[in-house]
Amino acid sequence: MAAQAHIVRDVHDADHDGVQAVVAAAFGQDDEAALVGRLWAAGAITIERLAEIDGEIVGYCAFSPITCTPNLDGELLGLAPVAVAPAHQRTGLGAAMIEDGLKACREAGARLIAVLGHPEYYARFGFEPGAAKNIRWAERDAGDAFRIITDDDMKTEQPRLVHYHPAFDAVS
Ligand SMILES: CC(C)(COP(=O)(O)OP(=O)(O)OC[C@H]1O[C@@H](n2cnc3c(N)ncnc32)[C@H](O)[C@@H]1OP(=O)(O)O)[C@@H](O)C(=O)NCCC(=O)NCCS
Repeated sequence: MAAQAHIVRDVHDADHDGVQAVVAAAFGQDDEAALVGRLWAAGAITIERLAEIDGEIVGYCAFSPITCTPNLDGELLGLAPVAVAPAHQRTGLGAAMIEDGLKACREAGARLIAVLGHPEYYARFGFEPGAAKNIRWAERDAGDAFRIITDDDMKTEQPRLVHYHPAFDAVS
């Protein structure tokens, strides 16, 4: 499908219904849309972006605070979910939102950004396997699917576990 002109921008309260609809459509279930609702309710989204075409919301991504054990100071963020309406997938919208969101993360001084997802897809944005820096997802061993972007002076000697915001606990 040829790419249509799109806008990537920050999210406002008036966008919430449209965002949740697109997240549910992308995943084919309501769990991730409910997750976004819990994150909003908890004030736990640090950076978020939507994509729209002709005023219609067709994509969404969010970065929320994560924590590490042992503790790591600074801005630590997890990218999830990323969602593009089925009719608009594979036209570059996911990439456009993620790149714009990552730029905002860097401007916010993010020290660590984590993601769980398709390894090849996220590699193109600079996410490397967390294991390369001795950082793993606390929940279970996700192998190459758990990836991170770190700032240059990240200390790697000490193994660390990453925990997502409690709003994620209800998502399997
Ligand atoms: C995954 C997703 C966010 C990607 O967004 P997108 O706008 O479709 O992707 P882009 O146009 O930026 O990039 C396209 C590339 O992504 C990769 N890609 C997209 N969907 C993929 C999938 N299901 N499996 C593997 N790779 C996929 C491919 O490399 C594709 O390139 P190609 O078309 O040349 O093969 C989108 O497809 C989506 O919403 N999927 C359903 C929800 C989901 O799984 N979200 C991610 C987990 S949080």
